[in-house]
Amino acid sequence: MEDGPINVADFERLAAEMLERGPLDYFAGGAGDEVTLRENVSAWGHWRLRPRVLTDVHQVSAATEVLGKPASMPILVAPVAYQRMAHPEGEAEMAAGAAAAGTAMCLSTLSNTRPSDLAAAAPRGRHLFQLYAFKDPGVTRALMDEAVDSGFEAILVTVDAPPGGNRERDRRNGFTLPSELGTPGLTAATGGEQELSIEEIFARMNHALTWADVADLAFECSVPVFVKGLLTAEDAELALDHGAAGVVVSNHGGRQLDRALATAEALPEVADALDGRATLLVDGGIRRGVDVATALALGADAVLVGRPALWGLACAGREGVAAVLGLLREELELALALLGCTSPAELTRAHVRRAPAATA
Ligand SMILES: Cc1cc2nc3c(=O)[nH]c(=O)nc-3n(C[C@H](O)[C@H](O)[C@H](O)COP(=O)(O)O)c2cc1C
Repeated sequence: MEDGPINVADFERLAAEMLERGPLDYFAGGAGDEVTLRENVSAWGHWRLRPRVLTDVHQVSAATEVLGKPASMPILVAPVAYQRMAHPEGEAEMAAGAAAAGTAMCLSTLSNTRPSDLAAAAPRGRHLFQLYAFKDPGVTRALMDEAVDSGFEAILVTVDAPPGGNRERDRRNGFTLPSELGTPGLTAATGGEQELSIEEIFARMNHALTWADVADLAFECSVPVFVKGLLTAEDAELALDHGAAGVVVSNHGGRQLDRALATAEALPEVADALDGRATLLVDGGIRRGVDVATALALGADAVLVGRPALWGLACAGREGVAAVLGLLREELELALALLGCTSPAELTRAHVRRAPAATA
Protein backbone atom coordinates (compact mmCIF):
# COMPACT_ATOMS: atom_id res chain seq x y z
CA MET A 1 0.00 0.00 0.00
CA GLU A 2 1.23 3.50 -0.83
CA ASP A 3 0.82 5.92 2.07
CA GLY A 4 2.17 9.14 0.56
CA PRO A 5 0.64 11.31 -2.14
CA ILE A 6 0.49 9.51 -5.51
CA ASN A 7 -1.23 12.10 -7.70
CA VAL A 8 -1.76 15.85 -7.99
CA ALA A 9 -5.08 15.71 -6.14
CA ASP A 10 -3.34 14.09 -3.15
CA PHE A 11 -0.78 16.92 -3.09
CA GLU A 12 -3.59 19.46 -3.33
CA ARG A 13 -5.36 17.97 -0.30
CA LEU A 14 -2.14 17.88 1.72
CA ALA A 15 -1.25 21.47 0.81
CA ALA A 16 -4.75 22.60 1.81
CA GLU A 17 -4.16 21.15 5.28
CA MET A 18 -0.85 22.99 5.63
CA LEU A 19 -1.66 26.47 4.34
CA GLU A 20 -3.50 29.24 6.18
CA ARG A 21 -6.91 30.16 4.83
CA GLY A 22 -5.84 33.49 3.21
CA PRO A 23 -2.91 32.17 1.16
CA LEU A 24 -4.74 28.92 0.35
CA ASP A 25 -7.73 30.77 -1.10
CA TYR A 26 -5.41 33.17 -2.96
CA PHE A 27 -3.59 30.21 -4.55
CA ALA A 28 -6.60 28.00 -5.21
CA GLY A 29 -9.24 30.57 -6.09
CA GLY A 30 -10.43 32.09 -9.33
CA ALA A 31 -12.48 35.03 -10.55
CA GLY A 32 -16.24 35.59 -10.17
CA ASP A 33 -18.23 32.37 -9.96
CA GLU A 34 -15.07 30.37 -10.77
CA VAL A 35 -16.67 28.86 -13.88
CA THR A 36 -13.43 29.08 -15.87
CA LEU A 37 -11.41 27.81 -12.90
CA ARG A 38 -13.51 24.63 -12.81
CA GLU A 39 -13.82 24.24 -16.58
CA ASN A 40 -10.06 24.49 -17.06
CA VAL A 41 -9.82 21.16 -15.26
CA SER A 42 -12.96 19.49 -16.62
CA ALA A 43 -12.48 20.54 -20.26
CA TRP A 44 -9.45 18.29 -20.75
CA GLY A 45 -11.92 15.48 -20.06
CA HIS A 46 -14.06 16.61 -23.00
CA TRP A 47 -11.50 14.87 -25.18
CA ARG A 48 -11.10 11.14 -25.58
CA LEU A 49 -7.95 9.32 -26.60
CA ARG A 50 -7.61 7.07 -29.66
CA PRO A 51 -4.85 4.59 -28.81
CA ARG A 52 -2.93 2.70 -31.46
CA VAL A 53 -1.65 -0.76 -30.63
CA LEU A 54 1.23 -3.06 -31.54
CA THR A 55 3.66 -0.22 -32.20
CA ASP A 56 6.57 -1.47 -30.03
CA VAL A 57 6.55 0.69 -26.95
CA HIS A 58 9.22 -1.11 -24.95
CA GLN A 59 11.19 2.14 -24.76
CA VAL A 60 9.18 5.24 -24.03
CA SER A 61 10.41 8.63 -22.89
CA ALA A 62 8.75 11.96 -22.19
CA ALA A 63 12.08 13.68 -22.94
CA THR A 64 11.74 16.41 -25.51
CA GLU A 65 13.08 19.77 -26.64
CA VAL A 66 11.67 22.95 -25.17
CA LEU A 67 12.85 26.25 -26.67
CA GLY A 68 15.51 24.39 -28.61
CA LYS A 69 17.09 22.67 -25.62
CA PRO A 70 16.55 19.27 -24.03
CA ALA A 71 14.05 18.86 -21.22
CA SER A 72 13.03 15.71 -19.35
CA MET A 73 9.39 16.36 -20.17
CA PRO A 74 7.15 18.81 -22.06
CA ILE A 75 5.90 20.15 -18.72
CA LEU A 76 7.19 23.48 -17.34
CA VAL A 77 6.42 25.37 -14.14
CA ALA A 78 4.10 28.34 -14.73
CA PRO A 79 4.78 31.78 -13.24
CA VAL A 80 3.03 32.09 -9.89
CA ALA A 81 3.32 35.20 -7.72
CA TYR A 82 4.46 35.35 -4.08
CA GLN A 83 5.78 31.84 -3.57
CA ARG A 84 7.17 32.68 -0.13
CA MET A 85 3.60 32.36 1.09
CA ALA A 86 3.88 28.64 0.22
CA HIS A 87 7.42 28.02 1.47
CA PRO A 88 10.00 30.18 3.30
CA GLU A 89 12.44 29.90 0.40
CA GLY A 90 9.71 30.38 -2.20
CA GLU A 91 10.86 30.64 -5.79
CA ALA A 92 14.39 29.38 -5.02
CA GLU A 93 12.93 26.04 -3.86
CA MET A 94 10.58 25.94 -6.82
CA ALA A 95 13.52 26.45 -9.18
CA ALA A 96 15.58 23.79 -7.43
CA GLY A 97 12.67 21.34 -7.69
CA ALA A 98 12.13 22.05 -11.38
CA ALA A 99 15.87 21.66 -12.04
CA ALA A 100 15.93 18.36 -10.14
CA ALA A 101 13.05 17.15 -12.31
CA GLY A 102 14.96 18.20 -15.43
CA THR A 103 12.64 20.92 -16.61
CA ALA A 104 12.29 24.72 -16.71
CA MET A 105 10.57 27.18 -14.42
CA CYS A 106 9.08 30.57 -15.27
CA LEU A 107 9.60 33.28 -12.62
CA SER A 108 6.82 35.83 -12.07
CA THR A 109 7.39 39.59 -12.09
CA LEU A 110 5.55 39.46 -8.74
CA SER A 111 8.09 37.10 -7.21
CA ASN A 112 9.64 37.26 -3.77
CA THR A 113 13.00 36.34 -5.30
CA ARG A 114 14.80 38.43 -7.91
CA PRO A 115 16.02 36.86 -11.16
CA SER A 116 19.73 37.02 -10.31
CA ASP A 117 19.13 35.26 -6.97
CA LEU A 118 17.01 32.59 -8.63
CA ALA A 119 19.76 31.87 -11.14
CA ALA A 120 22.24 31.58 -8.27
CA ALA A 121 19.91 29.27 -6.30
CA ALA A 122 19.45 26.84 -9.20
CA PRO A 123 22.50 27.32 -11.43
CA ARG A 124 21.85 24.18 -13.42
CA GLY A 125 18.18 25.00 -13.90
CA ARG A 126 16.50 26.45 -16.95
CA HIS A 127 14.61 29.67 -16.31
CA LEU A 128 12.08 31.82 -18.13
CA PHE A 129 10.77 35.19 -16.98
CA GLN A 130 7.17 36.40 -16.89
CA LEU A 131 6.94 40.11 -17.56
CA TYR A 132 4.26 42.59 -16.61
CA ALA A 133 4.58 45.88 -18.46
CA PHE A 134 4.80 49.08 -16.42
CA LYS A 135 3.76 52.63 -17.28
CA ASP A 136 7.41 53.63 -16.97
CA PRO A 137 9.10 51.77 -19.84
CA GLY A 138 12.38 52.00 -17.92
CA VAL A 139 10.95 49.68 -15.23
CA THR A 140 9.76 47.14 -17.80
CA ARG A 141 13.15 47.30 -19.49
CA ALA A 142 15.07 46.90 -16.21
CA LEU A 143 13.02 43.82 -15.28
CA MET A 144 13.65 42.26 -18.68
CA ASP A 145 17.36 43.13 -18.62
CA GLU A 146 17.97 41.54 -15.22
CA ALA A 147 16.32 38.32 -16.38
CA VAL A 148 18.24 38.21 -19.65
CA ASP A 149 21.53 39.08 -17.93
CA SER A 150 20.87 36.28 -15.42
CA GLY A 151 20.62 33.71 -18.21
CA PHE A 152 16.85 33.45 -18.48
CA GLU A 153 15.98 31.91 -21.84
CA ALA A 154 12.72 33.60 -22.78
CA ILE A 155 10.32 36.35 -21.73
CA LEU A 156 6.61 35.60 -21.37
CA VAL A 157 4.67 38.87 -21.54
CA THR A 158 1.39 38.41 -19.71
CA VAL A 159 -1.44 40.17 -21.53
CA ASP A 160 -4.56 39.01 -19.66
CA ALA A 161 -3.82 41.18 -16.59
CA PRO A 162 -3.85 43.90 -15.24
CA PRO A 163 -6.42 44.81 -14.15
CA GLY A 164 -6.64 41.98 -11.67
CA GLY A 165 -9.73 39.77 -11.77
CA ASN A 166 -12.58 39.83 -9.27
CA ARG A 167 -11.28 37.35 -6.71
CA GLU A 168 -14.15 37.08 -4.29
CA ARG A 169 -12.44 34.59 -1.97
CA ASP A 170 -9.74 37.19 -1.30
CA ARG A 171 -12.33 39.93 -0.79
CA ARG A 172 -14.25 37.86 1.74
CA ASN A 173 -11.03 36.96 3.55
CA GLY A 174 -9.85 40.57 3.48
CA PHE A 175 -6.69 39.14 1.94
CA THR A 176 -3.98 41.21 0.26
CA LEU A 177 -0.53 40.08 -0.73
CA PRO A 178 1.84 40.70 2.21
CA SER A 179 4.28 43.44 1.18
CA GLU A 180 6.73 42.34 3.91
CA LEU A 181 7.65 39.34 1.75
CA GLY A 182 8.96 41.80 -0.80
CA THR A 183 9.23 41.81 -4.57
CA PRO A 184 12.97 42.53 -4.78
CA GLY A 185 13.28 42.28 -8.57
CA LEU A 186 10.57 44.86 -8.99
CA THR A 187 11.93 47.05 -6.20
CA ALA A 188 15.33 47.09 -7.91
CA ALA A 189 13.72 47.83 -11.29
CA THR A 190 11.83 50.80 -9.87
CA GLY A 191 15.06 52.06 -8.32
CA GLY A 192 13.31 52.22 -4.94
CA GLU A 193 14.60 51.31 -1.54
CA GLN A 194 11.21 50.57 -0.04
CA GLU A 195 8.98 47.64 -0.88
CA LEU A 196 5.87 48.64 -2.79
CA SER A 197 2.46 47.48 -1.64
CA ILE A 198 0.53 45.37 -4.13
CA GLU A 199 -1.84 48.34 -4.70
CA GLU A 200 1.16 50.54 -5.56
CA ILE A 201 2.51 47.86 -7.90
CA PHE A 202 -0.79 47.49 -9.77
CA ALA A 203 -1.15 51.28 -9.99
CA ARG A 204 2.19 51.43 -11.78
CA MET A 205 1.38 48.71 -14.31
CA ASN A 206 0.55 49.71 -17.86
CA HIS A 207 -3.17 49.16 -18.48
CA ALA A 208 -2.88 50.73 -21.93
CA LEU A 209 -0.75 48.01 -23.48
CA THR A 210 -1.29 47.25 -27.20
CA TRP A 211 0.23 45.01 -29.85
CA ALA A 212 2.65 47.80 -30.75
CA ASP A 213 4.19 47.45 -27.26
CA VAL A 214 4.60 43.71 -27.78
CA ALA A 215 6.35 44.42 -31.06
CA ASP A 216 8.70 46.87 -29.31
CA LEU A 217 9.53 44.37 -26.58
CA ALA A 218 10.12 41.58 -29.08
CA PHE A 219 12.36 43.88 -31.12
CA GLU A 220 14.37 45.07 -28.11
CA CYS A 221 14.75 41.73 -26.37
CA SER A 222 17.69 39.46 -27.16
CA VAL A 223 15.82 36.28 -26.14
CA PRO A 224 12.50 34.98 -27.56
CA VAL A 225 9.36 36.82 -26.41
CA PHE A 226 6.12 34.89 -25.90
CA VAL A 227 2.63 36.32 -25.46
CA LYS A 228 1.00 34.67 -22.43
CA GLY A 229 -2.74 34.82 -21.93
CA LEU A 230 -4.54 34.61 -25.26
CA LEU A 231 -7.40 32.29 -26.22
CA THR A 232 -8.25 33.01 -29.87
CA ALA A 233 -6.91 32.34 -33.35
CA GLU A 234 -7.17 36.06 -34.11
CA ASP A 235 -4.85 37.04 -31.27
CA ALA A 236 -2.44 34.21 -32.07
CA GLU A 237 -2.10 35.63 -35.62
CA LEU A 238 -1.52 39.10 -34.20
CA ALA A 239 1.12 37.78 -31.80
CA LEU A 240 3.07 36.37 -34.72
CA ASP A 241 2.58 39.53 -36.78
CA HIS A 242 4.10 41.50 -33.89
CA GLY A 243 7.26 39.50 -33.49
CA ALA A 244 6.37 36.92 -30.83
CA ALA A 245 8.35 33.70 -30.94
CA GLY A 246 5.35 31.85 -29.56
CA VAL A 247 2.23 32.05 -27.47
CA VAL A 248 0.87 30.63 -24.24
CA VAL A 249 -2.79 29.72 -24.49
CA SER A 250 -3.89 30.67 -21.00
CA ASN A 251 -6.68 32.32 -19.02
CA HIS A 252 -4.44 32.90 -16.00
CA GLY A 253 -5.74 29.79 -14.29
CA GLY A 254 -9.32 31.11 -14.24
CA ARG A 255 -8.27 34.13 -12.16
CA GLN A 256 -9.06 36.92 -14.60
CA LEU A 257 -12.12 36.84 -16.89
CA ASP A 258 -14.63 34.39 -15.49
CA ARG A 259 -16.45 32.45 -18.24
CA ALA A 260 -13.49 32.87 -20.54
CA LEU A 261 -12.96 29.74 -22.61
CA ALA A 262 -11.27 26.83 -20.90
CA THR A 263 -7.83 26.41 -22.40
CA ALA A 264 -8.59 22.88 -23.66
CA GLU A 265 -11.40 24.47 -25.71
CA ALA A 266 -9.26 27.32 -27.04
CA LEU A 267 -6.18 25.30 -27.89
CA PRO A 268 -7.32 23.68 -31.19
CA GLU A 269 -8.16 26.98 -32.92
CA VAL A 270 -4.88 28.53 -31.84
CA ALA A 271 -2.95 25.46 -32.99
CA ASP A 272 -4.71 25.63 -36.36
CA ALA A 273 -3.94 29.33 -36.72
CA LEU A 274 -0.25 28.91 -35.88
CA ASP A 275 0.06 25.76 -37.97
CA GLY A 276 3.53 25.03 -36.60
CA ARG A 277 4.93 28.50 -37.38
CA ALA A 278 5.71 29.30 -33.71
CA THR A 279 6.08 27.60 -30.35
CA LEU A 280 2.73 26.84 -28.75
CA LEU A 281 2.43 26.46 -25.00
CA VAL A 282 -0.74 26.02 -22.95
CA ASP A 283 -1.65 26.10 -19.27
CA GLY A 284 -4.72 25.81 -17.08
CA GLY A 285 -6.19 22.79 -15.33
CA ILE A 286 -3.47 20.29 -16.24
CA ARG A 287 -3.61 17.74 -13.43
CA ARG A 288 -2.88 14.39 -15.12
CA GLY A 289 -0.47 12.89 -17.63
CA VAL A 290 -3.42 12.24 -19.95
CA ASP A 291 -4.19 16.00 -19.85
CA VAL A 292 -0.65 16.64 -21.08
CA ALA A 293 -1.01 13.97 -23.79
CA THR A 294 -4.29 15.58 -24.92
CA ALA A 295 -2.69 19.03 -25.08
CA LEU A 296 0.21 17.74 -27.16
CA ALA A 297 -2.11 15.82 -29.47
CA LEU A 298 -4.12 19.02 -29.99
CA GLY A 299 -0.96 20.81 -31.10
CA ALA A 300 0.85 22.19 -28.03
CA ASP A 301 4.62 21.87 -27.89
CA ALA A 302 4.59 21.83 -24.09
CA VAL A 303 2.34 22.67 -21.13
CA LEU A 304 2.84 24.64 -17.94
CA VAL A 305 1.48 23.77 -14.52
CA GLY A 306 0.77 26.43 -11.91
CA ARG A 307 -1.09 25.12 -8.89
CA PRO A 308 0.19 21.51 -9.05
CA ALA A 309 3.80 22.71 -8.64
CA LEU A 310 2.67 25.13 -5.94
CA TRP A 311 1.03 22.31 -3.94
CA GLY A 312 4.29 20.36 -4.17
CA LEU A 313 6.21 23.42 -2.96
CA ALA A 314 3.83 23.95 -0.01
CA CYS A 315 4.02 20.27 1.01
CA ALA A 316 7.74 19.63 0.80
CA GLY A 317 9.75 22.40 -0.86
CA ARG A 318 12.00 21.32 -3.69
CA GLU A 319 11.35 17.63 -3.05
CA GLY A 320 7.62 18.24 -3.30
CA VAL A 321 8.00 20.17 -6.56
CA ALA A 322 10.21 17.45 -8.02
CA ALA A 323 7.76 14.78 -6.84
CA VAL A 324 4.77 16.46 -8.51
CA LEU A 325 6.67 16.99 -11.75
CA GLY A 326 8.01 13.44 -11.57
CA LEU A 327 4.59 11.87 -11.13
CA LEU A 328 3.22 13.91 -14.05
CA ARG A 329 6.16 12.73 -16.19
CA GLU A 330 5.50 9.10 -15.22
CA GLU A 331 1.79 9.47 -15.96
CA LEU A 332 2.63 11.01 -19.33
CA GLU A 333 5.06 8.20 -20.17
CA LEU A 334 2.43 5.59 -19.31
CA ALA A 335 -0.14 7.44 -21.42
CA LEU A 336 2.30 7.62 -24.33
CA ALA A 337 2.99 3.89 -24.15
CA LEU A 338 -0.71 3.02 -23.98
CA LEU A 339 -1.40 5.38 -26.90
CA GLY A 340 1.23 3.54 -28.94
CA CYS A 341 3.78 6.38 -28.91
CA THR A 342 7.40 6.28 -27.79
CA SER A 343 7.88 10.07 -27.51
CA PRO A 344 5.79 13.24 -27.17
CA ALA A 345 6.56 14.17 -30.79
CA GLU A 346 4.58 11.16 -32.02
CA LEU A 347 1.28 12.50 -30.70
CA THR A 348 -1.05 13.90 -33.38
CA ARG A 349 -4.66 15.01 -33.73
CA ALA A 350 -5.45 11.42 -34.74
CA HIS A 351 -4.91 10.47 -31.10
CA VAL A 352 -7.86 12.57 -29.85
CA ARG A 353 -11.52 13.13 -30.58
CA ARG A 354 -14.32 14.90 -28.74
CA ALA A 355 -16.00 12.85 -26.05
CA PRO A 356 -19.55 11.98 -27.14
CA ALA A 357 -21.20 13.75 -24.17
CA ALA A 358 -19.25 16.98 -24.72
CA THR A 359 -20.34 17.26 -28.36
CA ALA A 360 -24.05 17.02 -27.51
C1 LIG B 1 -1.58 31.88 -7.13
C2 LIG B 1 -1.32 32.17 -8.57
C3 LIG B 1 -0.56 33.27 -8.92
C4 LIG B 1 -0.29 33.54 -10.26
N1 LIG B 1 0.52 34.59 -10.59
C5 LIG B 1 0.80 34.83 -11.88
C6 LIG B 1 1.68 35.88 -12.24
O1 LIG B 1 2.25 36.56 -11.40
N2 LIG B 1 1.90 36.11 -13.56
C7 LIG B 1 1.30 35.34 -14.54
O2 LIG B 1 1.52 35.58 -15.73
N3 LIG B 1 0.48 34.33 -14.22
C8 LIG B 1 0.22 34.06 -12.92
N4 LIG B 1 -0.61 33.01 -12.60
C9 LIG B 1 -1.17 32.17 -13.68
C10 LIG B 1 -0.25 30.98 -13.98
O3 LIG B 1 0.91 31.41 -14.64
C11 LIG B 1 -0.95 29.97 -14.91
O4 LIG B 1 -1.45 30.62 -16.05
C12 LIG B 1 -2.07 29.19 -14.21
O5 LIG B 1 -1.76 28.96 -12.86
C13 LIG B 1 -2.28 27.86 -14.91
O6 LIG B 1 -3.35 27.17 -14.34
P1 LIG B 1 -3.19 25.98 -13.26
O7 LIG B 1 -2.89 26.64 -11.96
O8 LIG B 1 -4.53 25.34 -13.30
O9 LIG B 1 -2.07 25.07 -13.73
C14 LIG B 1 -0.85 32.71 -11.27
C15 LIG B 1 -1.60 31.60 -10.91
C16 LIG B 1 -1.83 31.32 -9.58
C17 LIG B 1 -2.63 30.09 -9.22
